[in-house]
Amino acid sequence: MRELPRLKIVDSTSGVWLRQPRSSRHQILLAFEKERLAMTKNVNVAMVGLGFGAEFIPIYQSHPNTTVSAICRRDEKAVNECGDQFGIANRYTEFDQVLADPEVDFVHINSPINDHAWMSLKALDAGKHVMCTVPMATTIDECRQIVEKVKETGLKYMMAETVVYSREYLFIKQMYDTGELGDIQHLAASHPQDMDGWPEYWEKMIPMHYATHVVSPCLGLVNGLAEYVSCFGSGRVRDDIASKSGNKFAVETCHIKVKDSDLVAHIWRFLYDVARQYRESFDVYGTKKSFEWTLVENEPHVIHTAKKPEHEIPEKVEVPDFANLLPPEIQKFTLPQEIHDADHLSFIQGGGHGGSHPHLVNEFVNSLLENRDPFPNAVTSANWTCVGICAHESAEKGGEIVRLPDFTLG
Ligand SMILES: NC(=O)c1ccc[n+]([C@@H]2O[C@H](COP(=O)([O-])OP(=O)(O)OC[C@H]3O[C@@H](n4cnc5c(N)ncnc54)[C@H](O)[C@@H]3O)[C@@H](O)[C@H]2O)c1
Repeated sequence: MRELPRLKIVDSTSGVWLRQPRSSRHQILLAFEKERLAMTKNVNVAMVGLGFGAEFIPIYQSHPNTTVSAICRRDEKAVNECGDQFGIANRYTEFDQVLADPEVDFVHINSPINDHAWMSLKALDAGKHVMCTVPMATTIDECRQIVEKVKETGLKYMMAETVVYSREYLFIKQMYDTGELGDIQHLAASHPQDMDGWPEYWEKMIPMHYATHVVSPCLGLVNGLAEYVSCFGSGRVRDDIASKSGNKFAVETCHIKVKDSDLVAHIWRFLYDVARQYRESFDVYGTKKSFEWTLVENEPHVIHTAKKPEHEIPEKVEVPDFANLLPPEIQKFTLPQEIHDADHLSFIQGGGHGGSHPHLVNEFVNSLLENRDPFPNAVTSANWTCVGICAHESAEKGGEIVRLPDFTLG
């Protein structure tokens, strides 16, 4: 239950309020909103897009500090089915209806990729905080607009990148933070995924425009931002995919220079016409220990330890779960058996996204209640997203170095 009422300008005709310049009115409202969220113990989310998005509803409903106050998708029958299933009364088929609802503190956007940017911008304009699934946008200009809008409004934005809350990432991060890996020498990540059979909009995608699952662990681990990239395109996709997406390369393979560091990461991606099982891998090479992802899904990953007899260097490892970092009420949601729609291809392929869903929810909700930036914030989300956009540009120029735009560099 809410503990504080929302601010209502009941008598705007008195003139006092309206005589304030628009920017001051905005600042006053924002200061009130920050204060309100800092004091309140509950925030209201509207879930927008109920394919993958529906997966988050039971997590928010179980979280001690959130209420799912509304849901939205275009199909009226489907939104009613979802509302009935989860007991949610406010059901909308138009995004504008969500934004007009004064009870909604933030939107969690899970619509198709081309809708991420305009929905995020419109929500920020309407005074709503935004959590949005990956990627932030598909153009540099849209990323810039979102970063600027977040600065201008003081609202929170987080790209809901699953990989940096997966148990594997948290495990490697713990090894790095405690010094077990030693100094990092190289990072590598791959995301091969055959998208035949997925919704048609994927056919219009360029592999590197959906690269955040490989960019984020490399940069997130070392708390770095990308400075510049060089990417090559390799092979050819079939003609219909090439004409729909405007991209002819089957594989895109990219080096990322990490800013203010001597580190370089390597990432690669494909979406169509390459024979390989799905994989979202992350390899880290340190001076003392290295972590290598399994080649085959659900087999153990490997840790290599330096200066041991050759046959003792690699060891198969069981990665622990990190549910203990979460409020007890949502700890169970790291487990694959708690995946609500277990038939969704994304969960079959992603193994439940490494138990990341409740961590994402908890991080964004805490950032609102503690009035701090979430991880990743808007600038970091833009940097991770723009790596892929710059990488494709580089591939089209035969591997030329392309620098990340300044607004993504902090
Ligand atoms: N690991 C991950 O981070 C991960 C995994 C899966 C999906 N995703 C992302 O989640 C998003 C959704 O994926 P999906 O597989 O559920 O897609 P989908 O096409 O199955 O579902 C999209 C949903 O958005 C709704 N929608 C579309 N336009 C809308 C509008 N204008 N207003 C309100 N609702 C609208 C649709 O009704 C549908 O419910 C994609 O952007 C995808 O990139 C991320």
